[in-house]
Amino acid sequence: MQALYRKYRPRKLEDVLGQETNIEIIKNAAKIGKIGQAYIFYGPRGTGKTTTARLLAKLLNCEKRRDDAAFAKLGEPCNECRECRAIDAQNSFDVTEIDAASNRGIDEIRNLKENIRTAPASAAHRVYIIDEAHMLTGAAFNALLKTLEEPPAHAVIILATTEYEKLPPTITSRAQRFVFRKLPKTTIIKKLSSMAQAEGIAIDDAALELIAAAGEGSLRDAESLLGQIASLASAAGDGKKTSTIDLAAVERATGRAGLRTVYELAARMVKGDLKGSLAQIAALQDDGHDMVQVTKELIHYFRKVLSLALNPSLESVFQKELTKDEIADAKKLAASSNPAFIITLLKALIRAYAEMRYSPFAAVPLEVALAENLGS
Ligand SMILES: Nc1ncnc2c1ncn2[C@@H]1O[C@H](COP(=O)(O)OP(=O)(O)O)[C@@H](O)[C@H]1O
Ligand SMILES: [Mg+2]
Ligand SMILES: [Zn+2]
Repeated sequence: MQALYRKYRPRKLEDVLGQETNIEIIKNAAKIGKIGQAYIFYGPRGTGKTTTARLLAKLLNCEKRRDDAAFAKLGEPCNECRECRAIDAQNSFDVTEIDAASNRGIDEIRNLKENIRTAPASAAHRVYIIDEAHMLTGAAFNALLKTLEEPPAHAVIILATTEYEKLPPTITSRAQRFVFRKLPKTTIIKKLSSMAQAEGIAIDDAALELIAAAGEGSLRDAESLLGQIASLASAAGDGKKTSTIDLAAVERATGRAGLRTVYELAARMVKGDLKGSLAQIAALQDDGHDMVQVTKELIHYFRKVLSLALNPSLESVFQKELTKDEIADAKKLAASSNPAFIITLLKALIRAYAEMRYSPFAAVPLEVALAENLGS
């Protein structure tokens, strides 16, 4: 079966989520037929760099855009002509994808240097998409630089990277730079939800939310996780009608605790309920949770609660990461707690986390931190 994230790769600029400024600039350039010759797409994995690079290649080479001026003004590829389909299938003669991470791109950049000056085989432009561009060798960068200094009119080079600082300034100064951002959790939830619907995957909201959170801003990671958990569920169902994927199933598959669980533990801690907190920690461990991960999530959570207690207007910032219910919970906690105590808890948790990461005693540093700071 085709991986979900490939099947749901956006085929229009309009469908690329969370990168509005970049998309608008590219779309406008396409509308007026003024696409540049060198681009750098920079940002964390799974945020749409490769997707946008292929869309740009389609905009450059789409036959319908070439033949139909009214259509070209829409700033989208047709996805139906021979060139668009070849790019989707990754077998276009004139669009070459280079993975600089394999063999550091030595042979590929040599080929690029030899071929980039010859006219395109069938399309309007020769497009090179160089992925993980920061992995290129010094020699490869030099070869590339020569090309960027005087690119033939038909050539377009798109560099994609997660590590912008590793690209030489001689290269970056010759290209238009686009920063790709992590996607808000709420945006990820929306896409996962429509994918689940289209695929007939039965999954409840809390489970979807935890998958989205586990993606940590990467839509690809979240989409692959959804695919994995769905296939686990259907394998367990043995071909019979499978039950709805719930939060517990996702917690088991990822070792993460849902935010609801984190909230419950945090609420016990804020109340000074040592017995209840220890009991919940024991239960979480029993369920196979990774307590290092749970501690990390507690730290992130208390940070938000503290921020909300100190400055309620930060709510608008957290709307990216938290759903409405989650914000309501966090506000409740912020209102019922003393900021000084949250700071004490945060310090204790951060210390416990540092100890737990390398300690063979799993949850012990967390339990000690609570025992030291909560009443009984
Ligand atoms: N901004 C986005 N909008 C919509 N889908 C996205 C986005 N970013 C990633 N995806 C999904 O993740 C998959 C991989 O994205 P990709 O463009 O290869 O990420 P990158 O190159 O930044 O690592 C896509 O096929 C798509 O399903
Ligand atoms: Mg990529
Ligand atoms: Zn086309």
